[in-house]
Amino acid sequence: MTTVARYTSAAQHALEQDRLWPRVWWLAGHHDRLREEGDTLVASMGRAAILIVNDGGTLRAFHNVCPHRGHPLCAADTGRVKQLICPYHRWRFALDGRCEAIPDEASFSSGARERATLGAVRVAVRAGLVWVCLNQQAPSIDTFLGPVLDWLGGYGLDDWALDSEVTVPLAANWKASTDVHNEAYHLHALHPEAMPLVDDTGAEVDLDGWHARIRVPMGRSSGRLGGDGVHPRLKAFLEAQGVRADDADDTRDAYLEALRRDAKPAWSKLSDSQLVDNHMVYVFPNVQLNLHRDHAMVFRHRPEGPRRCSFDQLNLIRDRKGPLPAPRTTTADDPIIGPVTTADLRTAEALQRGYESGGLASLTLSRQEAIIEHMHRGLDGFFDTATTGPAQPQK
Ligand code: FES
Ligand SMILES: [Fe+2]
Repeated sequence: MTTVARYTSAAQHALEQDRLWPRVWWLAGHHDRLREEGDTLVASMGRAAILIVNDGGTLRAFHNVCPHRGHPLCAADTGRVKQLICPYHRWRFALDGRCEAIPDEASFSSGARERATLGAVRVAVRAGLVWVCLNQQAPSIDTFLGPVLDWLGGYGLDDWALDSEVTVPLAANWKASTDVHNEAYHLHALHPEAMPLVDDTGAEVDLDGWHARIRVPMGRSSGRLGGDGVHPRLKAFLEAQGVRADDADDTRDAYLEALRRDAKPAWSKLSDSQLVDNHMVYVFPNVQLNLHRDHAMVFRHRPEGPRRCSFDQLNLIRDRKGPLPAPRTTTADDPIIGPVTTADLRTAEALQRGYESGGLASLTLSRQEAIIEHMHRGLDGFFDTATTGPAQPQK
């Protein structure tokens, strides 16, 4: 049973702080932030703040904490440095974590500099994204990601570019924010304007390991619309792509055929469904990749307390013209978020108000919302095991 307390209680939040975030691989950011020697990225999740640095082409990760007295080593979220210098007393560290200089070193006991080497945190790049794990015993990133790399394979995300990155503070638990992107059941209610172009009733959900995927057919109207003939909005959309919608037995098939006919080389590894449809890949516990053939959005939901989270949106494209923009904090109605996601974020906050009201004890979930239940079983695998490896949820 998925209780509302999972979204509201301080005890649940504490369990996550103790047993989830310190033991799971989590998304730190996009590789574009760390392409050059000396690039730094500070990423936070739960209690942890992790500093990742490009040391001669090798990514290294450390807690962003000075071993002297605990001041954050890097104040900025992103930057480029030659060395790491703590601003409080200017202890100086090489990019590989060795402490190189301590002002007035003789006033410390001997060996202080050697003992101050920064401890390494596990870091890996997959699908153009940088992942970290604070636990040395956790499975490898590839074991953890399991089916995800196959699901992402055809897109070639390693070579995609980060086009923009924004953070929206939300008055919602991170799981409420995650849930609204883990089901297509709400499309007809929250995004009715999409129904002529998107067949939510044909959406397919796959659960595998900790993770999941939703494939939503595009180029075909929602089965909820009914009616004869091709919807005028779909017809106009397809004709703009050179598809004669009225002649088609199946508009999605005709759209796919047209895309294959004029295919770009970059699409050669995409499956038919990846080429034409919208794939939403859920990476446990708090990331989704919302994928289209030439652009993608990465959603990340970071806990800021039982009732608050940070929603991050990373917009990816195949090629970026111009420099990489700095990350910025904004509001849910910023046009860069897009109207569909704006509605989703408002819904996450509305859900949280419902959960806080005391009027509901547990959620009622359909098969279309199976990922929500799957996420909670995955969380249980972490909560129920304090020291052994977390169990994967059963399908
Ligand atoms: S706390 Fe970093 S140098 Fe003192
Ligand atoms: Fe939505």
